[in-house]
Amino acid sequence: MRPVYLDYSATTPLDDRVFEAMVPYFRENFGNASSIHAFGRKARAALEESRETIARCINAPYEALVFTSGGTESDNYAVRGAGMAQAKKGRNHIIVSAVEHHAVLDTALDLRTKGFEVNCARVDETGTVDLDHLRSLANDRTALISVMHVNNEVGTIEPVREAADIAHAVGALFHTDAVQSFGKIPVNVEDLGADLLTLSAHKIYGPKGIGALYIKKGTIVEPLVTGGGQEGNRRAGTESVALAVGFAQAARIAVEFAERDSIHIRKLRHELREKLAGHRGIVFNGHPEKSIPHILSVSFDRTGIDGEALIIGMDLRGVAVTSGSACTSGTLEPSHVLLAMGRPEATARATIRFSLGRLTTSEEIETAAKALEEVVRAMKKR
Ligand SMILES: Cc1ncc(COP(=O)(O)O)c(C=O)c1O
Repeated sequence: MRPVYLDYSATTPLDDRVFEAMVPYFRENFGNASSIHAFGRKARAALEESRETIARCINAPYEALVFTSGGTESDNYAVRGAGMAQAKKGRNHIIVSAVEHHAVLDTALDLRTKGFEVNCARVDETGTVDLDHLRSLANDRTALISVMHVNNEVGTIEPVREAADIAHAVGALFHTDAVQSFGKIPVNVEDLGADLLTLSAHKIYGPKGIGALYIKKGTIVEPLVTGGGQEGNRRAGTESVALAVGFAQAARIAVEFAERDSIHIRKLRHELREKLAGHRGIVFNGHPEKSIPHILSVSFDRTGIDGEALIIGMDLRGVAVTSGSACTSGTLEPSHVLLAMGRPEATARATIRFSLGRLTTSEEIETAAKALEEVVRAMKKR
């Protein structure tokens, strides 16, 4: 049986068209984009063209985009870089939503050791940030507010524009992590009110190891990586032109076909949901309407089902999914997202995230649903 991949939110396979676009930049066009000779100029042209393509996809001027090694670095850069720059102006308070990716959360918490006060804004049971709580936390010492666009575990679309307005009302900067929304729903830096916005290529059928941070003109962010003047003195290190070309190609395709892909994926998620609804104790995580169709997160409530065994059981049947837990030093910790949404620990542990993609088929959905039935049945026999 062919394995079934339903973990597209973790990463996606490289699109053939993306691969083809990158190949010449690994081979004949291998120049360093900082060199002034012809090889360098060719690389520079491709790099800047790629920057322009991606910037256009988010309605940003091309010089506002800095290439990084991926979403994690962009989140680190935004939170740490903006935090450190703002601290010089006497602002040393950071607010993040309780459901942020660890790249944001852990960076903010690390800043506590550098004298920052850090608050987490609550979310409700759908994973949506509580705007009243966010507003009550914001003050004239707030340096930065970070609220993600789409949550990677449950798919909830956050009220980013409203959160940005709260930040700006107290003179703070606003960052949003758009790793899970880009290429799926419109990401427009103006509409979202973002001063800083994180992107990653490998979630949109692009290469791993490249992402970008949008930095609105005039926003001061201290560089994370120093030692060279690349990226307008904002991120040192020789740029990977091949990866940038791949990122641009992936972004172009993802944005062009976002709506078509979403229709296909929404239909499949509906099929999966219908098939799973009969399980005893099953609950669906995330917002019932304000969510992307690509993610279906389910938990088993008060059934005694073990999350780790669920994932292993699915894997043994050839279905790749993710658990709602994070593996920290060998032990499975319940997800901070599900706990913040009010799920009990045992329920949070008994969670599966199915994430669907462009290549997912109805047959794969059928196989996954059957596999889950078998795994649950086998567990009950024990
Ligand atoms: C919301 C979110 N932010 C950041 C990241 C990290 O991105 P990268 O894998 O490119 O470092 C991920 C990846 O899972 C993510 O889902």
